[in-house]
Amino acid sequence: MADVVHYERDGAVGVITVDNPPVNALSVEVRAGLVDALARGLADAGAAALVILGAGRTFIAGADIREFGKPLTPPDLNEVIGRIEASPKPVIAALHGTALGGGLEVALGCHYRGAVVSAQVGFPEVKLGLLPGAGGTQRLPRLIGVEPALEIIVRGDPVPALKAHALGIVDEIVPGDLRAGAVEFAARVAAEKRPLRKIGASDEKLLAARSNPAVFETFRTGIERQARGYLAPFKCIEAVQAAVTLPFDAGLRRERELFVECLLSPQSRAQIHAFFAEREATKIPDVPKDTPVRLIKTAAVIGAGTMGGGIAMNFANAGIPVTVVEATAEALDRGLAVVRKNYAATAEKGRLSPAEMERRTALIRGTLDFQAVADADVVVEAVFEDMGVKKEVFAKLDRTCTAGAILATNTSTLDVDEIASATARPGSVIGTHFFSPANVMRLLEIVRGARTAKETIATAAELARRIGKVWVLAGNCDGFIGNRMLAGYLREAEFLVEEGATPAQVDRVIYDFGFPMGPFAMSDLAGLDVGWRIRKGKAHRRPKDLRDSPVADRLCEQGRFGQKTGAGWYRYEKGSRTPIPDPEVEALVAASAKEQGLTRRAVGDEEILARCLYPLVNEGARILEEGIALRPSDIDVIYLHGYGFPRYRGGPMFWADTLGLKRVYEEIAAYHRTHGRHWQPAPLLRTLAEQGQSFRDFKGTGA
Ligand SMILES: NC(=O)c1ccc[n+]([C@@H]2O[C@H](COP(=O)([O-])OP(=O)(O)OC[C@H]3O[C@@H](n4cnc5c(N)ncnc54)[C@H](O)[C@@H]3O)[C@@H](O)[C@H]2O)c1
Repeated sequence: MADVVHYERDGAVGVITVDNPPVNALSVEVRAGLVDALARGLADAGAAALVILGAGRTFIAGADIREFGKPLTPPDLNEVIGRIEASPKPVIAALHGTALGGGLEVALGCHYRGAVVSAQVGFPEVKLGLLPGAGGTQRLPRLIGVEPALEIIVRGDPVPALKAHALGIVDEIVPGDLRAGAVEFAARVAAEKRPLRKIGASDEKLLAARSNPAVFETFRTGIERQARGYLAPFKCIEAVQAAVTLPFDAGLRRERELFVECLLSPQSRAQIHAFFAEREATKIPDVPKDTPVRLIKTAAVIGAGTMGGGIAMNFANAGIPVTVVEATAEALDRGLAVVRKNYAATAEKGRLSPAEMERRTALIRGTLDFQAVADADVVVEAVFEDMGVKKEVFAKLDRTCTAGAILATNTSTLDVDEIASATARPGSVIGTHFFSPANVMRLLEIVRGARTAKETIATAAELARRIGKVWVLAGNCDGFIGNRMLAGYLREAEFLVEEGATPAQVDRVIYDFGFPMGPFAMSDLAGLDVGWRIRKGKAHRRPKDLRDSPVADRLCEQGRFGQKTGAGWYRYEKGSRTPIPDPEVEALVAASAKEQGLTRRAVGDEEILARCLYPLVNEGARILEEGIALRPSDIDVIYLHGYGFPRYRGGPMFWADTLGLKRVYEEIAAYHRTHGRHWQPAPLLRTLAEQGQSFRDFKGTGA
């Protein structure tokens, strides 16, 4: 067995070091190694106390996720922790880096915990659709009380050392060298003959919740909206409840049952998929990690409209000074006022200090003088969606910017190569497709043009990381990945309404599936005029022989642009965002259906779900086949972060895999027969279905 846990003596203290790079994950070797090292420490007459610490950059950072779902090789973690807790010599955990999940559970099995100030502890399991399964839900409430434990276990966010100290998770903050400090702490515990604090054996902190069981119901109600559709947060609550209602050992068994229930649920598989998908997306086969990147010290944004202001905030938030260039003083004032309002709103909620707000606002400088972009290292163009305007801007950028500058366009539908052709440096031109609101949405599609240089891609990727985006590389095509897929989703939603469903019914089905809102509420929020203008625009590249429902255009012709005009697919009371079904829309839909000779019918919920979501899958398959997306999981990342696809379903491609591609293909083929060319099955989908494969088996087109 690999030697991943060492034991040695330091004065009167035995030091157990977990040395399993990179993050000391709790592999079977580590678990067995801990048992052996503990036995050595107990047998070592010269050791009055023991310290457990991690080699390298962190304490035990958690379980070995890759062991999940595989048969467990003993010893299991509960047994290891049980032995530590039962040790007759005091055991002290010395924490640095991230003591998460199983790492924190090991630390809670110890009698005392010291930590350096930069350490973090936490139970992120819930984010993978799981719960701490080695005593975490039983020991943490016994250590710090039920309510703070629920906060940590159910939300899954890391807790910095000082807060952990204030809560009582960490007993001492160790100044200076961790090992020396922890050894000193352990020696002191032994010398003072402090009692062994066996958390599993103490009940005092549970008493409050025992006499007030309503605390669980209150907590449940508090997270209901945010955790809608998710299983794990509610199972976490049940597990903590078991700590209060059952004796410790029975609680551990209950926790294990709940853990297994979560582990076997499709949700945890989906959430683990999402976790790995996000990491995978940052790997571009022909742009290796060591590709040189250009240093970005200053940025510029052209256009201070809906997107430009938000994009500028991204740079300012990351400490990058940004110049915003507008065409008119009026547009500039309006744009900068929105930026200030956004910062003020965040500050009012207490999420930004006044000083920080000032600092960020000061980093954004507005101007009408195009020359001001001359020394920017990156320029993001966010002017009107009009090829003529964009080309003019890029020609000017080409004349004005330094040779090394990255020239990025935020276009959502236009051809990045054509935009690049307005410059003499297409290698420096790239698409950076932000999502609205750009200061809030984490997704960024990085669009690679035919001539975009690898260095430009690597620089855009590094910049995306710096400004905190989840990014995915997309090829250049109409709508790139996300919006190209969305077109079919919206088209079918509108057809369904023409055929007899109501916008409210379609929205309810999609909401119940787990999206934050359905297609009609979303369109009203985004503004119907955006798509209308694109449809009318000459630069629109969608084939003209495919019919769209005319209803959306008619709504726009009546000035119904959505929430901003108080009416769209729904109507809105003044100052309210609540969609109210509108008989006028119903009449418009009925008239349109009649014109097309449609007999309206009752449409079932299942049909709504299939007809809205299958187009995502079918178009996704084409996107893969064309090499527009590198991998199915990249598409999933885009839908999870840009479109509100429920994370617990993993994304559209993962979801299709869970249904089975044979079924998905057959249903799409059936719609093709009844509804025509829109539903032409993607060849890749057909091939995978016929071969009994899944998207996850797809290894690229080799293109
Ligand atoms: N709105 C969205 O949801 C969204 C999402 C993703 C991408 N996009 C894309 O982002 C871009 C901007 O969209 P928007 O919604 O912010 O548009 P917008 O109309 O709100 O803003 C465009 C701004 O650009 C300014 N402008 C026009 N020509 C200019 C020039 N030559 N120099 C300087 N400023 C100029 C205008 O005055 C206006 O303020 C478009 O390409 C759009 O397709 C929009």
